[in-house]
Amino acid sequence: MLSNAEIGIDLGTANILVYSKSKGIIMNEPSVVAIDVNTKKVLAVGTDAKSMIGKTPGNIVAVRPLKDGVIADFDVTTEMLKHIMTSIGKKMGFSLRKPSVVVCTPSGATSVERRAIQDAVKHSGAKHVHLIEEPVAAAIGADLPVGEPVANVVVDIGGGTTEVAIISYGGVVSCNTIRVAGDKMDEDIVQHVRKAYNLLIGERTAEQIKMEVGHAPIAHDTREMEIRGRDLVTGLPKTITLQSTEVQSAIQESLLSVLEAIRSTLENCPPELSGDIVDRGVILTGGGALLNGLQQWLSEEIVVPVHIAPNPLESVAIGTGKSLSVIDKLQKAAK
Ligand SMILES: Nc1ncnc2c1ncn2[C@@H]1O[C@H](COP(=O)(O)OP(=O)(O)O)[C@@H](O)[C@H]1O
Ligand SMILES: [Mg+2]
Repeated sequence: MLSNAEIGIDLGTANILVYSKSKGIIMNEPSVVAIDVNTKKVLAVGTDAKSMIGKTPGNIVAVRPLKDGVIADFDVTTEMLKHIMTSIGKKMGFSLRKPSVVVCTPSGATSVERRAIQDAVKHSGAKHVHLIEEPVAAAIGADLPVGEPVANVVVDIGGGTTEVAIISYGGVVSCNTIRVAGDKMDEDIVQHVRKAYNLLIGERTAEQIKMEVGHAPIAHDTREMEIRGRDLVTGLPKTITLQSTEVQSAIQESLLSVLEAIRSTLENCPPELSGDIVDRGVILTGGGALLNGLQQWLSEEIVVPVHIAPNPLESVAIGTGKSLSVIDKLQKAAK
């Protein structure tokens, strides 16, 4: 019997990753598409398209079709998926063996949208297409024992959404999604710089500031960063120096929303599982897990151990790719 390739696609709001069982992560690109508005043709996907954000001539737009955790532009998402399937097909030689694909869909997707994602992937050459819930994928990718009847708490902080989920025995026991995550923090920084310095910066600059000098609300050694933007008064380019403490207070409110989502999920946890959480703690996945000081701050606030997944940006993709065999095992166990 010919064994099919098994691949997993993490359709994230900020990054799209593809994991193959045999080759590991085979694609990791920002979820950005550049399209020609006149012809509706996709010109570039991923890094090439991201570098065009805010810099394109009128007829070309660089869009993030999954921004805000829902599929903002469905046709573009489908086009992007086709593009991705073609390029990984070239890398893997799918023309010979049709792959089984597991796609982890954004939590905000409606059932119609999920169906359409499934169809789009199928049309681009997959043999079987399965969909998986994102927190379950994140937990599998972080090597948590999702198949056992113990509480696994996953906090996935992505671009558009933060998802907090308690997973036990292969399923989601309770889950909470908020539309506050990395993108919102970038926006907070843009607003702060505009108000405090009359300086306009782009979202990519804001993201760099967050990654370099952003910090969770706990004491830290302050740092500085030089940033450039457009002066709103003179209209000319200007450079200023930003303190990490300013960035810290700019993003504080968003982080408190994340904390609140975690608290309320833990409070609604069935009592039998609460005991597990005290011992086993919470695991952070998604790019937001990498924010400076986040792990320490959260563990002080919720008073249970907080761990960061080994590769937080890759957990969902790895888990999606590995989920097929886990799903098999779970189904067998259930019989
Ligand atoms: N070192 C870092 N510090 C803070 N935020 C980060 C860091 N690295 C990545 N991020 C943020 O993580 C988010 C992307 O995470 P990801 O899990 O790929 O999102 P999604 O699953 O929605 O595509 C972005 O908002 C990005 O700015
Ligand atoms: Mg994600």
